[in-house]
Amino acid sequence: MKYEDEFMADTFWKRPVTLVRGKGTKVWDSTGKEYIDCGCGYGVALLGHCHPRVVDAIRRQTEKILTCHGSFYNDAREECLSKLAKIKPEGTDKVFLSNTGAETVETAIKLCRKYTKKRGIVAMVNGYHGKTMGALSLTWASKYREPFMPLLSDVKFAPYGKAEKLEGAIDDNTGAVFVEPIQGEGGINVPPHDYLRQVREICDNKGLIMVLDEVQSGFGRTGKIWAHQHFGIKPDILCSSKALGGGMPIGATFARADIMDSLRRGEHSNTFGGNPLACAACTGAIDAILEDGLVENAAKMGEFIKKRFGELDTKMIREVRGLGLMIGIDMRFEIMDIILEALEKGVIVLESGKTVVRLLPPLTITEQEAEKVFQVVSDSIRTVEKKRTAGA
Ligand SMILES: Cc1ncc(COP(=O)(O)O)c(C=O)c1O
Repeated sequence: MKYEDEFMADTFWKRPVTLVRGKGTKVWDSTGKEYIDCGCGYGVALLGHCHPRVVDAIRRQTEKILTCHGSFYNDAREECLSKLAKIKPEGTDKVFLSNTGAETVETAIKLCRKYTKKRGIVAMVNGYHGKTMGALSLTWASKYREPFMPLLSDVKFAPYGKAEKLEGAIDDNTGAVFVEPIQGEGGINVPPHDYLRQVREICDNKGLIMVLDEVQSGFGRTGKIWAHQHFGIKPDILCSSKALGGGMPIGATFARADIMDSLRRGEHSNTFGGNPLACAACTGAIDAILEDGLVENAAKMGEFIKKRFGELDTKMIREVRGLGLMIGIDMRFEIMDIILEALEKGVIVLESGKTVVRLLPPLTITEQEAEKVFQVVSDSIRTVEKKRTAGA
């Protein structure tokens, strides 16, 4: 891959595989080798690859119009919005369309500043919100932040999952709290059940905006359309992207009407947000998620996979955690070798931090495929364990 190696910016850690095709839970490389994809492009291919409803919607749209700026009305956008209105998080009334997860977070940051007229934001230790300058300011890991300092001022971090520590990070300058209902990049961390409700209460008492970043946890991944629904709360703003376009880039920032209406025309816009092609794909994706029973399957298969890993007799696993098909296997050692071993054996898995093997399989995964994933990953764990013991 001459140009990817020599011409493209060298900012991705690359696996030694060239993927050329995908269908459902599977992808194939340039040699024809098949993989079960439990990475899904870091959570994008939640419906499986090339879902027929999405492909069909894109194909039909390509025959009509590809681009239509937000300064014109468009029928594909209208249809997509009508579908988004059906799944919008309770408590939100309006949406701003964009293209990536980080862009949804940038939108949320601007909304918070505009509405509250305050600059202070509290984000969470181990949180991840993207790598553009605003989103990066709310992202915890110093390896991402430090080369780009100074970032947004007035951002403080509170320990995740400990509501009692949140108040200490809030001052008169604070306007908003940003939190992931389940931390994805930070290690698949599921907070204590009461945590988000307590954060909600603190935000209400202090007049702060509660922003939920569901870029990774949203759109059915955890066994409910939105992960926060497991915890019985309503956000003021919610960020969604990754899987929402069925594989096409789209971002949606949902907000309470009074918050969204604080933006005047021209104060926030983009060229591609709400483009007909992404909108058509998103319409197909929402139809699939609502009509194919996939969210229920996420809950069922998630339990199955967690149970199988929980039964493994090894001291090397610290914990198996997650909700639905957002699963982390926390190991007692660094896991890159496990990822490469599983890849070799035909299963794509992700990292989450240094010690967590992350599984984000498509919601279409069958029990038979889930069992194969378990067999391959547990085998890979054993192989790496043996190598480590032999080398020690
Ligand atoms: C919770 C969360 N927010 C934001 C982002 C940034 O999304 P993107 O990479 O599309 O900018 C991610 C990406 O992993 C994420 O997991």
